[in-house]
Amino acid sequence: MSARKNTQVVLLAAGQGKRMKSSKPKVLHEVLGKTVLGRVLDAVDQLGIEHVHVVVGHEAEQVRAFLQANPPKTPLSVHLQEPQHGTGHALKQVVPSLEGFSGTLLVSVADTPLLQGNTLAALVDGHIKEKSIVTLLTTEVEDAKSYGRILRNADGSVVGIIEDKDASDEQKQIREINPAIYCFDWPTVKPGLFGLTNDNRQKEYYLTDMVAWAYKANLKTSAIQAADWREVAGINSRLELAEAIRLLRDMSIQRLALESGVTFVDASSTWIAPEVSIGQDSSVLPGCYLVGTINIGQNCLIGPHTVMTGPVTVGDGTSIVQSNVSNSAIGAQCKVGPFAHLRDGNEISDSVRIGNFVEIKKSVIGRKTNVSHLSYVGDASIGSNANLGAGTITANYNHATKAKNRTTIGDGASTGSNSVLVAPITLGDKASVAAGTVATRDVPAGALAVGRARQENKEGWADRGK
Ligand code: UD1
Ligand code: CA
Repeated sequence: MSARKNTQVVLLAAGQGKRMKSSKPKVLHEVLGKTVLGRVLDAVDQLGIEHVHVVVGHEAEQVRAFLQANPPKTPLSVHLQEPQHGTGHALKQVVPSLEGFSGTLLVSVADTPLLQGNTLAALVDGHIKEKSIVTLLTTEVEDAKSYGRILRNADGSVVGIIEDKDASDEQKQIREINPAIYCFDWPTVKPGLFGLTNDNRQKEYYLTDMVAWAYKANLKTSAIQAADWREVAGINSRLELAEAIRLLRDMSIQRLALESGVTFVDASSTWIAPEVSIGQDSSVLPGCYLVGTINIGQNCLIGPHTVMTGPVTVGDGTSIVQSNVSNSAIGAQCKVGPFAHLRDGNEISDSVRIGNFVEIKKSVIGRKTNVSHLSYVGDASIGSNANLGAGTITANYNHATKAKNRTTIGDGASTGSNSVLVAPITLGDKASVAAGTVATRDVPAGALAVGRARQENKEGWADRGK
């Protein structure tokens, strides 16, 4: 760790990403619930280094706003590259703030959403250990797409990188590619950076040309192979974005299936982010989409067709069928769904039943309480062993004052079908509300509230006009 003390990271995120055909910068596209840049910063955070620089340019304000709302743990500064004249030109924008810095500069493109912290760590540690001036990550791929190709000489030393657009047919055959993640010894490489020219097909200052510069200057250059090419795959189009999402999903399912003992009935229709953990002997049925920080216990049944957006926790033995859950904590042995919607900060205790067509928002629900059918529960605290009948509604919103008001329901309380509880309102322990009641006043413990028009029967109604 201490060897990484004199290490700073530069992420290049100024490019337009033309091939994405988007008004959003490429690095702000989402890969299973997190932006591409957010995922790269997560990897950087694992290094425990002193500073990360992000170079922004195209739609810079969007990227800045994202960074402000989602700051990395590592101290951050943002630099503007305007206009964008290539990856070498991008790095130059950081140079003024490197004044007085001497150490390892890890430079990476920011369009690699699957990048892992331990790969960056291996690169930095290898670079420092070998006392290299330039160290680049490389990897071999089946399809070299538009990647830069690694050029080696007869003795196997890396002598340069040729961009796909500038490569000869012969060079295009090379399968060892440049993921564009490098370590440089700073300020040794500074003359190389300022010596870059834009004498190429794209008329850009290529950072990749630093490798040939170092070779010609007789400065030690090493290459470290990334074990898994998937990890360093860059996204340039929506198709590659889709591929990255699929690869990340595959990695999550592999981990959960092999290491945690989770059953997946149909992995190909299941989408799970790396931030999701699931306990042993839980099953995930087809059509689930789980993103964000989610912790699911053991022996749970999730799906089919359940969408969860973290933060969400789920206790052991709970089933969540065909439902939508976000920002909620659900206890053990609960039954949720089908067709339930839990959102915005719920705390649901153990053995709770939340049935079909029930929406629960910002509510606390005690043990063994049932909200089984067709209800809306918002801004409520419900005790244990309570039962809300079908169609119970907490009328929490006062349209005139725009206030959201609370409903409090005691232990063992019950409401009949089609009750409306006009908040603010409190139902005491074991209080009851008769079916069809519109309750506007508190109901004392043990009392029954009846608030509905009294029924009148008109005898002989059917025969009336005869
Ligand atoms: C780059 C590499 C290529 C490598 C590939 C890996 C160069 C010249 N080529 O090509 O060898 O195989 O990445 O994905 O470096 N960026 C800026 N400013 C710019 C241009 C780009 O900050 O002026 C940023 C982009 O935001 C992006 C990254 O640099 O995050 C890469 O840019 P991109 O246009 O995708 O480069 P590639 O053509 O893929
Ligand atoms: Ca790229």
